[in-house]
Amino acid sequence: MPKVKSVYACTACGYETPRWVGRCPGCGAWNTLEESITSPAEKAGGPKLAANQRPGTGASPLQLKDIPEDNTLRTPTGIPELDRVLGGGIVEGGLMLIGGDPGIGKSTLLLQVCANLAEAGKRVLYISGEESARQIKLRARRLEIDPPGLYVLAENALDAVESRLREVQPEVAVVDSIQTMYRPEMASAPGSVSQIRESTSLLMRLCKETGTSMFVVGHVTKEGAIAGPRILEHMVDVVLYFEGDRQQDYRLLRAVKNRFGSVNELGVFRMTGKGMQVVANPSEELLSHRAKGASGSAVFCGLEGSRPLLCDVQALTSQSYLNSPRRTVNGADPGRIAMLLAVLEKRAGQRSYNQDVYINVAGGLELSEPAADLALCVAVVSSLKDQAVGAEVAVMGEVGLAGEVRTVPQCERRVAECARLGFTTLVIPRENARRIKNPPEGVRLIGVDTVLQAVSVLF
Ligand code: TYD
Ligand code: MG
Repeated sequence: MPKVKSVYACTACGYETPRWVGRCPGCGAWNTLEESITSPAEKAGGPKLAANQRPGTGASPLQLKDIPEDNTLRTPTGIPELDRVLGGGIVEGGLMLIGGDPGIGKSTLLLQVCANLAEAGKRVLYISGEESARQIKLRARRLEIDPPGLYVLAENALDAVESRLREVQPEVAVVDSIQTMYRPEMASAPGSVSQIRESTSLLMRLCKETGTSMFVVGHVTKEGAIAGPRILEHMVDVVLYFEGDRQQDYRLLRAVKNRFGSVNELGVFRMTGKGMQVVANPSEELLSHRAKGASGSAVFCGLEGSRPLLCDVQALTSQSYLNSPRRTVNGADPGRIAMLLAVLEKRAGQRSYNQDVYINVAGGLELSEPAADLALCVAVVSSLKDQAVGAEVAVMGEVGLAGEVRTVPQCERRVAECARLGFTTLVIPRENARRIKNPPEGVRLIGVDTVLQAVSVLF
């Protein structure tokens, strides 16, 4: 193995020094030096096969037309929702980062993936820096998995991990978690920015060299970003986030970056006594607890990636006894809600200045689309008037400051999903309604131009 040397580089100007100093001699900034590892470049081998050309292999440029088509097969994980988020399955040599709050179920899901792959005859290595082999066995017992070909290693020194990876030569490996891995030759503690960066780049190099596909678990900070550096996200091929309330059992898996597929795909799971279960029909599940006939609720069809998802938007308004009434928002942007309340007051005569307003999106979903505006408005008005919206009604549309209702993208998809789940009266922007020539059978489309119209149609 080539000798490794560590250097300290200034994060502000890039100045390098072999010794740590408090103040960068290059730019004079304080406390900006960070340790990193340099290893002498490996000798370039003979001419490289074009198909295997990768960064760092010393290959020469090729014409785009001469590069062979990528015919790498994707390996299905045996969990359809995960495959959907990955863009079809695992790509050979890919490094995939899975982030999420502690206890959300990352280790559980990955152990299930490992078991499925081992079941399918793959060689799989699960490396844990957090749990002992026995603890993993316990978890496996709970999940009722015990396939041959699934190797488990409790280790957190990366040089040992590297030599085991070369020894076992797994097709798929899991590293749980990147924050516990460390390179002993570096002085900084495991979990520090420089350790995480160096560990990830070493794993990345290993993946590309050996063709092993690797899942890496990353913990999340209080602010919700993957702990340590954003640079982690730049380095890896795929970044997935696991979201969802720990109290509720739904888990949403989202792709934030994917070099092999589309982002914004969403996978829906549920944590059960026997691990993560796929939720095949999320719209139905999300609406299953809906209080029919109660005021302050409107159904909206959102779009997560290519998937239409129905959700129950709830609002509660009640007489406020505070100087500045309370606005509590769960699952939507509070700024957007403030805007919609103002629009309702000015353009539709629905006053909420003396009301506490609570907004909630059932199921722990986050509404990020403006297309949800009209449903939010309808839910608020329904609560203000204490009149329920019909159980067969779904609402969508973006609301502008003049109270106008604007078109939503991919309305036909949404209409189809609403129809599938038995919603027969759909209040949508007029332009969208005009464009849909033949709506699904039994569905009535009501096109509206303004919030005021929507309110007068529904109440
Ligand atoms: P875990 O996968 O350890 O979370 P992470 O690796 O993201 O920190 O999940 C731990 C939680 O999941 C724990 O609170 C127990 C619960 N759990 C189940 O509900 N069912 C199961 O089958 C398993 C294995 C765990
Ligand atoms: Mg874990």
